[in-house]
Amino acid sequence: MKIRKAVIPAAGLGTRMLPATKTIPKEMLPLLDKPVIQYIIEEAAAAGIEDILLVTNRQKSAMDDYFDYFPELEQRLERSGKAEQAEEIRKAADLANIFYVRQKETKGLGHAIYRAKRFIGDEPFAVLLGDDVMFAEVPVIKQLMDVSEDRGGLTALGVQAVSDSAIASYSSLKVTDTEQRGIFKVEDLIEKPTAAEKFSNYAILGRYVLTPGIFDALENVKPGYGGEIQLTDGIREQLKGEAMFAVDFKGKRYDTGNQRGFLEATVEFALRDKELGAGFREYLSGIINN
Ligand code: UTP
Repeated sequence: MKIRKAVIPAAGLGTRMLPATKTIPKEMLPLLDKPVIQYIIEEAAAAGIEDILLVTNRQKSAMDDYFDYFPELEQRLERSGKAEQAEEIRKAADLANIFYVRQKETKGLGHAIYRAKRFIGDEPFAVLLGDDVMFAEVPVIKQLMDVSEDRGGLTALGVQAVSDSAIASYSSLKVTDTEQRGIFKVEDLIEKPTAAEKFSNYAILGRYVLTPGIFDALENVKPGYGGEIQLTDGIREQLKGEAMFAVDFKGKRYDTGNQRGFLEATVEFALRDKELGAGFREYLSGIINN
């Protein structure tokens, strides 16, 4: 079962990045020269996804504009000998077929995913959270898609072990081993657990392959943590009737939706950059050692 569609929920209010996010979507903040959302769309495109649904809201139209053509700007760049830049701008708009739907009220991640029901229809699909950027050799969503596709299109959740203090911010999973290293069977999960409630330190970190059964499950979910419709509660409901897998993915994840995560991403992407890297490393060691 080939996975062809992805959903990127990007309708959160971004309150941890205020005041900037009062008018700029957090997904449009730049990591070096590209907005965060472009890295995520590039990851989906590199995994072979053709159709992407962006779940946005009334304050996020900068994203629709960004993935559109801008002929006047492209022609101006070409005329002034900057054809490479013009091509780069055009390429961003051609990464995938991008569709948009609005989440009219901010009622949680599960509620945002439910907006994709008509777009998805009856096939498994990928989910990439709009503020989680990955650095990986094999696109992280592709690692999950491979596990799901090998098993007839079942749910695959992207996980990594996080620290004892961090698990309270994520979904904690109860898992059992399979024959394959790094792939687990999911037995149970809980959103934002206390230390006493957590199942393990394996947390879902921003990437999922879900089956269309999630939509029926979400219809039965009552508002949970924070009064929002939690995706985790939907997955838990679905687990009653469907087998699911967790994939300990290879790669580093950056949560650009908070200041510390955004800074870490900026610094590490700059250090890896071909043009900026060496000079920036020197600059950083200079200011740290003085
Ligand atoms: P987050 O909790 O990281 O985003 O949601 P947020 O709500 O924007 O964050 P703060 O706490 O206000 O800073 C995880 C993902 O779910 C999306 C977000 O856009 C993000 O990709 N989301 C969340 C929605 O699309 N709709 C919602 O109602 C809530």
